Amino acid sequence: MLPEPILQDFRNRASTAAHPREMVIDLLRAIQEQHRWVADEGVELTAEILGIPVIEVEEVATFYDKIFRQPVGRHVIHVCDSICCWSRGGEEIAGYLQQQLDIALGETTADGAFTLLPTCCLGACDEAPAMMIDRETYGNLTEERIDKILEQKRKDLNP
Ligand code: FES
Repeated sequence: MLPEPILQDFRNRASTAAHPREMVIDLLRAIQEQHRWVADEGVELTAEILGIPVIEVEEVATFYDKIFRQPVGRHVIHVCDSICCWSRGGEEIAGYLQQQLDIALGETTADGAFTLLPTCCLGACDEAPAMMIDRETYGNLTEERIDKILEQKRKDLNP
């Protein structure tokens, strides 16, 4: 689930941490970096390392929308549906993404390249409408800009 050195590092840190539960996100993210999502085994491992109940890890994992509890595509697109983006055409942008990817929100493309998820504010309100792909934020979205971004991402996947 985790390479031995990383696993050992987390075990060491947890054993000396005053509040090991503060490491939940770090551990879940480390597992996700290895597998692209966090299976039940990852939640259980996190609970075991931190010495906290599985349900407490699950609560964090399901609350935090950047932790994926189901398999996702190679790229995960989070399209903002909060107020600034909504007031500047975010709904149309989300619709355009669904049309271009031929999937609904919450789904993954048939080729496994993209997963499209709605998200709350990305902190890029001054560039609304905005989306985040993996860890990179893209603002001032238009249909043309989305075409270019998706084209580039597809090229990166199939050079
Ligand atoms: Fe969309 Fe803030 S409301 S980035």
